[in-house]
Amino acid sequence: MTDARFRITGGARLKGRVRISGSKNAADYAIAAALLTAADVVLHNVPAIGDVRRMEELLEYLGATVAHEGPSSLRINCANIDKLDVPASLATPIRAGFLVMGSLLGRFRRAACPPPGGDVIGIRPLDVHLSGFRTIGADVARREAMFVATAPDGLRGGRVVLDYPSVMGTLNVMLAAALADGPTTIINAASEPEVASLADMLNAMGASISGAGTHTVRINGVRELGGVEHRVIPDRLEAGTFALAAAITSGEVEIEEAIPEHLDALITKMREAGVEIEPTDAGMRVRGSGDYRAIGAQAVPYPGLATDLHPPLAAFLTQARGVSTINERVFDNRMLYIGELRKMGADVITAGQTAIISGPTRLSAAPVKALDVRAGTACVLAGLVAEGTTEVSDVFHIDRAHEALHVKLSALGASIERA
Ligand code: EPU
Repeated sequence: MTDARFRITGGARLKGRVRISGSKNAADYAIAAALLTAADVVLHNVPAIGDVRRMEELLEYLGATVAHEGPSSLRINCANIDKLDVPASLATPIRAGFLVMGSLLGRFRRAACPPPGGDVIGIRPLDVHLSGFRTIGADVARREAMFVATAPDGLRGGRVVLDYPSVMGTLNVMLAAALADGPTTIINAASEPEVASLADMLNAMGASISGAGTHTVRINGVRELGGVEHRVIPDRLEAGTFALAAAITSGEVEIEEAIPEHLDALITKMREAGVEIEPTDAGMRVRGSGDYRAIGAQAVPYPGLATDLHPPLAAFLTQARGVSTINERVFDNRMLYIGELRKMGADVITAGQTAIISGPTRLSAAPVKALDVRAGTACVLAGLVAEGTTEVSDVFHIDRAHEALHVKLSALGASIERA
């Protein structure tokens, strides 16, 4: 944790090209999957961000070697794993760390980990993960602060029906079931692109997984998995954030590496609000006119609008004419950003799980805090159009997910510096 902050002087229109980094979440998931094999796993397009570093530390603690090969490639070897218990100091800083449960359980038939941390954006239970492990034959107990999962006689495939299409719940079951005896079917699976990408990686390691990216995933357990060289998919949430940054500043930005199909819901909503977005050979181009209409949106599981894009979308909608609404249906504490935007003059209120945003409002600089990753990006976007110099503190939250956000925004013409 650092006391770094951003100072942003609003008013500049963003112009030019920006290249999107590899996906934070997909990179974290791929690192957890490396535990499934004794062979080398080489990952490319890995973003240099706080959360990835935490995952590397976690694997190193368990006995893995992690070598950086160039700025965005990692070579991971898990031949000599000698610990199966994750201490709280390594588990709590990062939610994705809980995925080592599935990998360790699959390969070593035992795993222990305390409840993970991550953003305080809601209750974030683990019942989906734990009941999934039980369905494929694990015994799961809570011992003091740890969840301990064991399967001394090995895991057996089963029919796993998820109460909720939890992203990491789906992945934890997929990781464990990849090495189980027999077939597993996950019903009501999460269909996020990061799930499909992890299945691609596992299949390249020798797993037999079909249907990932839909709500029914079939896994035929195999005896062992081998090494792989895998490229992490581009970060759709970073791409969406830059699309909104371009729009809020009435700018014109080509977002290289963006995969428009991963952003269908956001693109549809932004077009409805009056933003021009078109696919290009390199990614997509966003052109903002500054004349926007209010819209209604809902943050739901993929392929709907991502909950992670709710706060920056709300920042953008402060500049739209009329009353916009965003109904948050994934996390029950996603709206921490609202208090910060209000300090800058935004007219945002809540009614239950709905943010009601009236606009357009002239925002003005104020000291604000990045209360979580996405609340932080909402503050940064607001700062880009606010009158005066906005200071965003607790930028370490943004650093967890964004590779050099201020450098990329500066290159597009924003007046932003890190202090
Ligand atoms: N849920 C349950 N039971 C469970 C697990 C989840 O009811 O056992 C509920 C949660 O309460 C929540 C909903 O399911 O209401 C969604 O949670 P999910 O499990 O899908 O989220 P996650 O896997 O913990 C990942 C990302 C989040 C992203 C969500 C949704 C990581 C580390 N986190 O979390 O990303 O918002 O999927 O797409 O991969 C971020 O990047 O800033 C971030 C928070």
